[in-house]
Amino acid sequence: MNPDTDLPRQFPPDFVWGVATSSFQIEGAAREDGKGESIWDRFCSLPGVIADASNGELACDHYHRLEGDLDLIASLGVNAYRFSVSWPRVQPLGHGAWNEPGLAFYERLVDGLLKRGIQPYLTLNHWDLPQALQDQGGWAARDTVHRFVDYARGVQRRLGSRVAAITTHNEPWVIAVLGHEKGNFAPGIQNRQTAFQVAHHLLLSHGLALQALRADGCTAKLGIVLNLGHHEPATASAEDAALARLDDARGRRWYTDPLFLGRYPQEVLDELGADAPVVQAGDMAHIATPMDYLGVNYYSRNVSSAGAPFDVTKSGLPLTEMGWEIYPRGLTELLLTLHRDYTLPPVYITENGGAFPDPVVNGQVHDADRTDYLRTHIAATGAALAQGVPVAGYMVWSLMDNFEWASGYVKRFGIVHVDYATLQRTPKDSALWYRDLLARCRALRSGAAGRG
Ligand code: FCB
Repeated sequence: MNPDTDLPRQFPPDFVWGVATSSFQIEGAAREDGKGESIWDRFCSLPGVIADASNGELACDHYHRLEGDLDLIASLGVNAYRFSVSWPRVQPLGHGAWNEPGLAFYERLVDGLLKRGIQPYLTLNHWDLPQALQDQGGWAARDTVHRFVDYARGVQRRLGSRVAAITTHNEPWVIAVLGHEKGNFAPGIQNRQTAFQVAHHLLLSHGLALQALRADGCTAKLGIVLNLGHHEPATASAEDAALARLDDARGRRWYTDPLFLGRYPQEVLDELGADAPVVQAGDMAHIATPMDYLGVNYYSRNVSSAGAPFDVTKSGLPLTEMGWEIYPRGLTELLLTLHRDYTLPPVYITENGGAFPDPVVNGQVHDADRTDYLRTHIAATGAALAQGVPVAGYMVWSLMDNFEWASGYVKRFGIVHVDYATLQRTPKDSALWYRDLLARCRALRSGAAGRG
């Protein structure tokens, strides 16, 4: 079997193929045209928190290179582009006045995609909360839930009829746990109780935003994006198995159970005790507001070891530059688990990709490792589809190298290389491979249409 020839046949003609980015990671223009400060602008100014002491002031300068980047996206032959709106760019203080130049930028982006035949997949919150809201308690404050709903309504009023989908939040686990329990991401808080209250407010604001947008007549599909790993025990021992189940409840079901079943996993509530979030009457029903789709970001598996910490360097699996195990089978397993546990709406793989060291040689980047990562994970997606999981799309993380949060610009996830000195974009071999795969999918589709 030639994996490259057989891959297109695993996907239906209407399958959505895309690339993904987020506002803070690529836009730059951090203080231009009336944009307000975000928590990531503030976080980057703290000493020692970003690996290369960098920030998002310039990033990929996407804000000023929009037309060229749209052409770049179109050159790949994707039919979808996932991006996020920077809340402080369109509503600098997180409430009240709207910033017209910011809204106009996203309008140009959306119209530019549509003109090129690409469906816009818009995310409202990919982490860059207005600092002004953080100053009033941020996601730990229940009032932020209502600010978010107002923001969602404002964005939908302006863009909702032109985008294919609106995602409320990207990876609430990261905001809650990395941002508020471990503190290595903005806003840098270290408090477990706060983290779980934040998670609850994110989920609640998601449900209330869905209700408000639908009441406003929104035509776009509405959903959320979760980062989910596949949880496995390190050994066959009963202790490891029990821990893997608990880790799965903490990392995955804490989000998916409320969204699909309207309740938090009891074992996690028991473990949290006094750190459990304050939940008001009616909250859980709001959170379980039906979604039009679920976005899944998958990068690796999670291995639970009750004894000595699991050492990924000894697992025998290859690692990406992030030190994450490359484990495509986990994506199939994860999708099957979700399919077993819930009645799923269409599922989109909204992020998947790898960081690898990418030397530029004579203007080319031969990133065979990334191509391999993408090929095997796309095949793993196809395997889940073949077993009945309603997968509707796949998006590569990321369109181009960008600001990788606490790792700064050191880790490169792009299928397009960015030279940070000149900001020149160079498609890597993986981009050319993805482009060719999508061309083969299109050819298969038109062949099928011709025969029909
Ligand atoms: C995800 C984020 C995305 C990117 C990738 C590597 O957690 O959503 O912005 O940083 O990881």
